[in-house]
Amino acid sequence: MIARAHARAGQALSMVALLNTLLEAERAGAKVLATYLADYKEGSPDWRTLKAIQRDESRNCAVLMRLLRHIEGPVSAATGAFLGKALKINGRSERLRFLNIGQAWVARRIEEALPAIADPHVKSALQEMYASHVENIERCNALLD
Ligand SMILES: [Fe+2]
Repeated sequence: MIARAHARAGQALSMVALLNTLLEAERAGAKVLATYLADYKEGSPDWRTLKAIQRDESRNCAVLMRLLRHIEGPVSAATGAFLGKALKINGRSERLRFLNIGQAWVARRIEEALPAIADPHVKSALQEMYASHVENIERCNALLD
């Protein structure tokens, strides 16, 4: 009994850690895109693509905060270190390539975690987040020179 309770507590803790890691990464992604958008003419097709990706990142933050509240975990207010690194990159294509390294990292973290997630609510939200990352990586790749 005690061992099982401990296992459950451990699982909840690692779920909190995963969701907060993703939240910090998505928060960084949204801020990175806000900066990268300035490289493009507002309203141009490329700008609109990146703006849509930025909205996805912001929505992911909201989803992750909702999931953390759902599992009654603390919600991190931090922004991932990716932001600082991303702002040092210059050049449109270099920036998008770097963005996609971050997006692929997030996708991989979700993909690795999914098989062990039992909560159907968390699982379906993260499956959706994974799929949107795969799609957004391709949309970004299409903008590369
Ligand atoms: Fe992301």
